[in-house]
Amino acid sequence: MWWWQLGVFSCVLLAVVVIFFLIAGQRYQVFNERCLKPPGPLVTDSKKRDARLKRGFHVDHIPTALDAVVIGSGIGGLTAAALLSKAGKRVLVLEQHDQAGGCTHTFQNKGFEFDVGIHYLGQLHETSLLKVALDQITEGQLQFTRLEQHFDTLILGQPDEEYHIHAGKTEMAANLKKQFPGEEEAIDEFMRLVKLASQRAPLIAILKIIPYWLVNFLIQTGLLHSISSVFRLAGTNHSAIMSRLTQNKDLQALSAYLFYGVPPKESSFLINALLIHHYKRGAYYPRGGASEFAFHIIPVIQQAGGAVLVRAPVQSILVNQLGKAYGVTVLKGQEEIEVHAPVVISNTGIFNTFQKFLPPHIQNKPEIQSLLGMVRHGMGSFLVFVGLDGTKEELGLVSTNFWMYKSNDLDSLMERYSTLGRDQILGNIPMMFITFPSAKDPTADLRHPGKSCMTLLTMARYEWFEEWKGTNLGKRGRDYLDLKNSMAQELLDWALTIFPQLRNKVLIIPESATPLTNAHYLGAPRGEMYGAEHNLERFTPETIARTRPQTPVNGLYLTGQDVFCNGIAGALHGGLLCASAVLNQILYIDLLKKTWKKKEKVRELLKSNLKSQCRTD
Ligand SMILES: Cc1cc2nc3c(=O)[nH]c(=O)nc-3n(C[C@H](O)[C@H](O)[C@H](O)COP(=O)(O)OP(=O)(O)OC[C@H]3O[C@@H](n4cnc5c(N)ncnc54)[C@H](O)[C@@H]3O)c2cc1C
Ligand SMILES: *[C@@H]1O[C@H](CO)[C@@H](O)[C@H](O)[C@H]1NC(C)=O
Repeated sequence: MWWWQLGVFSCVLLAVVVIFFLIAGQRYQVFNERCLKPPGPLVTDSKKRDARLKRGFHVDHIPTALDAVVIGSGIGGLTAAALLSKAGKRVLVLEQHDQAGGCTHTFQNKGFEFDVGIHYLGQLHETSLLKVALDQITEGQLQFTRLEQHFDTLILGQPDEEYHIHAGKTEMAANLKKQFPGEEEAIDEFMRLVKLASQRAPLIAILKIIPYWLVNFLIQTGLLHSISSVFRLAGTNHSAIMSRLTQNKDLQALSAYLFYGVPPKESSFLINALLIHHYKRGAYYPRGGASEFAFHIIPVIQQAGGAVLVRAPVQSILVNQLGKAYGVTVLKGQEEIEVHAPVVISNTGIFNTFQKFLPPHIQNKPEIQSLLGMVRHGMGSFLVFVGLDGTKEELGLVSTNFWMYKSNDLDSLMERYSTLGRDQILGNIPMMFITFPSAKDPTADLRHPGKSCMTLLTMARYEWFEEWKGTNLGKRGRDYLDLKNSMAQELLDWALTIFPQLRNKVLIIPESATPLTNAHYLGAPRGEMYGAEHNLERFTPETIARTRPQTPVNGLYLTGQDVFCNGIAGALHGGLLCASAVLNQILYIDLLKKTWKKKEKVRELLKSNLKSQCRTD
């Protein structure tokens, strides 16, 4: 009885604080329907694309009287910049690479186009919050194509241990039940927890919005857990929950098949559940390729007088004597150029922001040291980009992705892999992801006629390549190349066992990317694939609350995947939280209103369609 009352009390307290923020915040009209235009034709002219995606840094290109400067043009940086622009702010985005987009940039090699860090995303049905948000920051220009309903195949050990993952509100569970007879109850319970995780995920965001003292109060008094069980799902390891639901090893593995470098027993159940839920209503790929993200967000920033400039490696964040951030320095040739703005937003992750850009006396502040102590560097990735001779039809390619594991015991498999020494890797890569980007994009054949591409991906430790960290791209020496090429060959050979028809179709010597490549092109300090490690500690209430856009430095904010979680959607939420913090206005409320309106419209449309159908019948 007592606990029940406390639960109600803390919910009321939470509501009061949220309402306070609603009333106290200045009102910006950020979202509107007027900005949505019918999608224009796909721009394939490379000069036109480069003019937008590759505008170089130059003093003359810096807009005057900036309201904010953003370090990094990943989806997190661009989202924050576009939202602030829509609120009338003038924002400059600075990107170290030679093109904008971060993980969403693409590169060309001998007539093939490869994407780097986006294979598919979910939650893009018409009435989803993600879709409404993406429409707003691209003015309705970014379009998506749905993958096949059977969007993922999982292979555990032997090729006959193959499972198919289907999208669909009810189809996902129904199809799993067909493949796991006798496990119906476990699947129902798993899907219930997945749904619970997704419905309560906003509470995770709220911990990043309400004041610390309140979060601390809720934690200290134990009230937090009486508000919702989501915090327990977040703080419990995946294997612990799954072993309660089922003893079926294949089903246990399937529940955590989307790898990101953390073994299930060290990962948060919440994050795995959210990843599965992400694709439940369908998996999608950007029409026109991954570079369409930046291509359509940049004009929104420009319209407000802002700019996105590349080849602009930020060296430091300027902090004045009062401890307030007031700009950044950018390396141009031998010179460091100062760019001033009252708000500095970093899209480069917790480690770069605090360890690389801030002067030592600020880095050493206890608030910053304690924050750094809460997170670890995530694992790196290893990618192989394969160019294939032939169209999707000629080669028999599908939009379905393949997740391969050498056994169904993901815990010991990942644990063993991450403790291997460099000389033990070859012959021992235990997992791989296979995808055919060109097979997912209906415009691929138009853009690159007669060509297809395949990307292979596995996890890799930075330590395996660390020896060459001081060397320059393309000049890392024979040993590095040998290791890289042998790993690539091992993955390619494995992939060809599944797709033997591609054996003689590999056109170019596959390019591969190590954690050092990530460090070079993505500015990931230790070649991380997804920023800070997504381990259990990251999802304790304390760490959730501490990893928020506001930082211990006045005027300095964080955006992107380290604020919320990995993925395009995760990084975009980082951007939403960041812009909310800068504008002192919870943008989610405005966005939810838009989402509800859209749902209503869809319902009305359905109704009137039904009516007219009845009449014609
Ligand atoms: C191989 C791979 C596959 C993936 N697949 C998917 C997928 O299928 N679906 C999905 O949703 N997500 C996927 N992701 C994850 C997703 O791409 C990322 O989580 C997300 O894009 C991260 O966005 P971000 O804005 O936080 O960071 P980033 O995109 O990493 O952007 C950070 C930017 O900061 C720049 N920067 C760094 N240092 C400096 C500096 N000193 N000065 C200026 N700029 C700097 C970098 O160059 C970079 O452009 C994948 C990631 C990888 C690596
Ligand atoms: C996972 O949770 C179980 C049950 O609470 C516990 O016994 C185990 O030690 C945990 N594993 C890790 C690696 O934390």
